Amino acid sequence: MKTLTVALPGREYDIVIERGLLDRAGELCRKTLPGAPRLFVVTDSTVGPLYLKRIIPPLEAAGFETAVCEIPAGEASKCAGELARLWECMMDFGLTRTDAVVALGGGVVGDLAGFAAATILRGVAFVQIPTTLLAQVDSSVGGKVAIDLDHGKNLAGAFWQPKLVLMDPDTLDTLPDATFADGMAEVVKYGCILDGAFFSFLAQRPSRAAIMVEIEHVLYTCCNLKRMVVEKDERDTGKRMLLNFGHTLGHAYEKAGHYETWTHGQAVAAGMVQAARLGTRLGVTPAGTAEEIAALLTPLGLPTSIPCTGEEYAAAIGLDKKGAGAEISVILLEALGKAVPHKMPKAALLEELT
Ligand code: NAD
Ligand code: GLY
Repeated sequence: MKTLTVALPGREYDIVIERGLLDRAGELCRKTLPGAPRLFVVTDSTVGPLYLKRIIPPLEAAGFETAVCEIPAGEASKCAGELARLWECMMDFGLTRTDAVVALGGGVVGDLAGFAAATILRGVAFVQIPTTLLAQVDSSVGGKVAIDLDHGKNLAGAFWQPKLVLMDPDTLDTLPDATFADGMAEVVKYGCILDGAFFSFLAQRPSRAAIMVEIEHVLYTCCNLKRMVVEKDERDTGKRMLLNFGHTLGHAYEKAGHYETWTHGQAVAAGMVQAARLGTRLGVTPAGTAEEIAALLTPLGLPTSIPCTGEEYAAAIGLDKKGAGAEISVILLEALGKAVPHKMPKAALLEELT
């Protein structure tokens, strides 16, 4: 078992990583929430049938009364309609401020259930039990919770830290390859921005099977890096922005594909390679870095470039007539393992990209 503590003053919490941990969810939740009578479990229509039968008995054995609310699997559920439905179900259940919400699923469930927990009764405790690689290495840690609006992704949300994060790497066994690869894009990102030795470690394990042999170490390393960033900059005004490496261009690619053609992980993968190329053209990133990143991503089936027009890049970087002179901070690599913010005029960035 590996445990990390996110040491945010007054809101500290543990991240526990262990194969088979679902079976111990009850005792660990009880330790963290000694006085909570009820748990409101949110899951989705794929994860529920796979894992509810594993997790509900240990939660009830630890003395919790439970209710389950299942949302349809997929990003479309991260919406105001599902949020309102969760609030009403929580009230039907009789949730009080001494109870807690449990998010069992990927980033969609975590973001939605977390936002519901942050807002119901002006905020109740919540526990993250992430079941995708992306949710384990990224979205379950750090307290960003949100829903999407018609105007864009994650536009209504909060910072609401969980009380506990429980990761069972065995849950990754049921992920489709493409969903596993999406999470690997974020895993590779940590190596790129903060840990060159971890990047080399990943380069020596170029397949899902090889990564799974070392999965506890991979999860621990990624969560530890995110912990350090979040402890320094919980509210995303400085160092946390380094986590956006590959994401500015990635957002352009996601948008260009109308959020249907490319998954977030695929878009971030291409975004990282293109950001490395951009950095090299700007004299910040050593030549060859983009190829080294691509060599990790390609065996996982992730793309290293995605077609995108000048208009699509301009929209994604917020370059309109009003913003033509405005600056943007893009995250570039000074080396593998060392990311830096790089300020430049948006118009100059667009010129470099097209
Ligand atoms: P997801 O939650 O939609 O999960 C992907 C798919 O995998 C879903 O169909 C889900 O039902 C299925 N699934 C989940 N666990 C499974 C398992 N163990 N076995 C089989 N299938 C399983 O997507 P995701 O990639 O986990 O998360 C993406 C979301 O996370 C986006 O909404 C994104 O905005 C958000 N996100 C949030 C943060 C944050 O800091 N809060 C960070 C990154 C991403
Ligand atoms: N996923 C980026 C962040 O948590 O800040």
